[in-house]
Amino acid sequence: MIRFIEADGTPHPVEAAVGQSLKQAALDHLVPGIIGDCGGCASCGTCHAYIDDKHLPLLAPADENEEMILEGVPASRTSNSRLTCQIPVTADMAGMEVHIPDTQF
Ligand code: FES
Repeated sequence: MIRFIEADGTPHPVEAAVGQSLKQAALDHLVPGIIGDCGGCASCGTCHAYIDDKHLPLLAPADENEEMILEGVPASRTSNSRLTCQIPVTADMAGMEVHIPDTQF
């Protein structure tokens, strides 16, 4: 279970399939705020979210292209910022919280 959390605190618990992207898991469960205009090719930035501190170290670091897109997102970019389309779901993400920026609503 992964918990997507809207900017106003509304939680969206999602059973995500291992191997799919976090962005796709959000879209499949109609989570508001994860938009994904580019279809997941890391070019639009509309799938930006903040990963909780506990689970962030489990993720592979952002590559150069993801870093470049994150520089241009409208919300504040923090050390927890990631493009959810670039994060494949793994079993050890159970309990992870993914906070969605208020600029995506
Ligand atoms: Fe466009 Fe992630 S869906 S950057």
